[in-house]
Amino acid sequence: MPNTALITGASSGIGLEFARYHAAKGGDLVLTARRNEVLEELKSELEAKHGIAAHVIALDLGAAGAADRLYDEVRALGVGIDILINNAGFGGHGHFLDRDLDADQAMIDLNITALVRLTHHVANDMAKRGGGKILNVGSTAGFAPGPNQAVYFATKAFVNSFSQAIAHEMQDKGVTCTVLAPGYVETGFAKAADLELTAMAKAGGATAADVARHGYDAMLRGELITINDRRLGFMMNWVLPLLPRRMVLRSVAANQS
Ligand SMILES: NC(=O)c1ccc[n+]([C@@H]2O[C@H](COP(=O)([O-])OP(=O)(O)OC[C@H]3O[C@@H](n4cnc5c(N)ncnc54)[C@H](OP(=O)(O)O)[C@@H]3O)[C@@H](O)[C@H]2O)c1
Repeated sequence: MPNTALITGASSGIGLEFARYHAAKGGDLVLTARRNEVLEELKSELEAKHGIAAHVIALDLGAAGAADRLYDEVRALGVGIDILINNAGFGGHGHFLDRDLDADQAMIDLNITALVRLTHHVANDMAKRGGGKILNVGSTAGFAPGPNQAVYFATKAFVNSFSQAIAHEMQDKGVTCTVLAPGYVETGFAKAADLELTAMAKAGGATAADVARHGYDAMLRGELITINDRRLGFMMNWVLPLLPRRMVLRSVAANQS
């Protein structure tokens, strides 16, 4: 049975662990991120360890037209995609007015635009073939507005919302879409977003391997949205919506300072 996964942001953190987990189950891979050498090393590691086939397509997925190019390159490989994991993304610390506007735009281009375009292309192929699974990496950040990371939180609110809506639309096409909404995870994310000194990062987080396994298994079950930590899930779904908005804003701002 064909079982090829296209994973974006596969060169580190949660994406790398998705690749390891999928390969351990005997699945083939298309690995993408910007760092070609790291992806080539991962390809060699997983092919040798699990006897699977992996392809590497290195590109900046946030660049204009990159998601379309990635899709064209995958088609040129002649492999069908059974699982799409939209994982590539980054955040950015600071007040919106003080931040570099181009950096925030690049965040929107990667976290939202590339995800939407790639999903559109790949999900259409899946629907034509009558099946497929999509896992979009959102975040608990998508459950509330995020002062000190305003654009990042908003991009993840988009991912959380968009993914559930298309999951509903695709129900009769055999294509599932699951959102993985992790809390803080110990990866390269905090450094890249200049968040290492924040209360959130100091409190520590889950491991990338645990979070990837949790999300991947939820995707296999066709779940709509999943949070990797039970207590956090209870807070997000049952407590947060009842709290006064300004209290939520104060609390998120403190956590992101
Ligand atoms: N860590 C957390 O606390 C946390 C919590 C909730 C959600 N998330 C989400 O989880 C996902 C994975 O993040 P992570 O925590 O694993 O962080 P990470 O270790 O920094 O990994 C990010 C991945 O995205 C790739 N990437 C970044 N910019 C890219 C670009 N322009 N084009 C192509 N690939 C790009 C990186 O590869 P290259 O540098 O090689 O391009 C890397 O593979 C993100 O969507 C993030 O928002 C993270």
